[in-house]
Amino acid sequence: MAALPLSKVLPGEFPTGPLRLRRPGVRTVPVEQIGSPTRPFPDCPCRLVHGDNLEAMENLLDDGYTGKINLIYVDPPFDSQSDYRHRVVLDGTKITREAPLVDRLAYRDTWEGGIESYLSMLAPRLRLMADLLAEDGNLFIHLDHRRVHYVKVLMDGILPDGFLNEIIWYFNSGPRERNVFGRRHHTILRYAKNPDAAFLDSESPYARTPYSPNINIPACKAHYYHPLGKIHGDVWEIPHIAQNDRTEREGFATQKPLQLLERIIGCCSRPGDWVADFFCGSGTTPVAAENLDRRWIAVDQSAPAIQVTRRRLLHSEVHGFVLERSEDRIPEESPATATVEAIRYGQTGLVTVCLRDYRLAEIPLKNSVQEERTRNILQADFAYALDSWCVGYESEEGIFQSRFYRSRNGKRDSTPVEKEIREIPLSPEIERVGVRIVDVFGNETTVSVPITLSEPPRV
Ligand SMILES: C[S@@+](CC[C@H](N)C(=O)[O-])C[C@H]1O[C@@H](n2cnc3c(N)ncnc32)[C@H](O)[C@@H]1O
Repeated sequence: MAALPLSKVLPGEFPTGPLRLRRPGVRTVPVEQIGSPTRPFPDCPCRLVHGDNLEAMENLLDDGYTGKINLIYVDPPFDSQSDYRHRVVLDGTKITREAPLVDRLAYRDTWEGGIESYLSMLAPRLRLMADLLAEDGNLFIHLDHRRVHYVKVLMDGILPDGFLNEIIWYFNSGPRERNVFGRRHHTILRYAKNPDAAFLDSESPYARTPYSPNINIPACKAHYYHPLGKIHGDVWEIPHIAQNDRTEREGFATQKPLQLLERIIGCCSRPGDWVADFFCGSGTTPVAAENLDRRWIAVDQSAPAIQVTRRRLLHSEVHGFVLERSEDRIPEESPATATVEAIRYGQTGLVTVCLRDYRLAEIPLKNSVQEERTRNILQADFAYALDSWCVGYESEEGIFQSRFYRSRNGKRDSTPVEKEIREIPLSPEIERVGVRIVDVFGNETTVSVPITLSEPPRV
């Protein structure tokens, strides 16, 4: 959509009728179904969508999700005039400044048309979010000092009576500026369609903070005090993910802490509710939703973002989800070749699948020193190139069914991915398995191999 003058983006002038802005002919198709043999959500699978969120939201409205999403959290670009990268360290034994890195552009936050083009991007998307929101639902919009005030005015036009909170997320870290006071907070706007009905579970431990240990609660007044503490105020002190963090950081520049998302989801939705994030980045929202047994929809247009989200989800104990892709983002044929072996031992019905080799026609790094070092690392162990791999099969509709997986840990841990999956229970009639490999450069390779029979190994 072309940038509108500011006066037309802000309320009053902004169109209020039905919005349909999808590019004609662009559709989203399911490409992979990741199943959990142990934790299925049988009826409605969660959805990870690789594509523009405008189209994804219009598809959801077409699919009957109008008024069905209980909680929407979005952390859109902030109009920061920067580009953000995703970095993967390849060889854990050499984490130094020169360690070989796969460094891909994750997304741009530079707006040639200035604030007008930024708000013109956001305005129709916020409108569609309001359409998707349930009557008692909550919409959280995460921004920083740059554009939050404009977006507040924009939202006051979209949900005129819906403003509920301006939450200050305070984190005592960040760059040390010299000419301004240190910027140590982001602002999260909370809106609802119907503020009187907006769901907030004040009994949830996520909604409460312990009383100060210094206060003295006399026994006769104890009944005034909630056992879980007082309900949160609107300033939330939650640490940002440190640069050298090894527990959560995924190499995605604008990743937000799980604790923040778990608080939002834990307070403002119930188990089984639909939670959506239409700018999901590294997937913090769907991971938090999985941890709290909510169903989720996550969308991003960036390939590295979808790759990180998918791998993070594979690493959690997920309920299973569908990966959908906008037709204009289907990757080109993979430049990699994989050698795979699948062996069934005797009559046990158990199959072991091994990756024997994985080769890239070329290393897609521009820096020749990095390329050389990466080539050496991959020659020593090709598994450094792997992001994840799954064993499954292709359904009649051509959708890969991933059932058993191995993946990198992320979190600055560059231990290579395991090359073997043992004891996969497959009925004896199954004669072939499919293997889908995603590498750290983003290539996706699918192969199908016959299962060969072997005597059980001697103990
Ligand atoms: C600030 S990041 C989100 C970070 C995320 N909250 C996390 O914890 O990792 C913003 C994301 O919005 C995505 N994005 C920007 N414009 C988009 C669009 N039109 N459709 C879908 N995703 C978009 C970018 O690719 C980027 O990953």
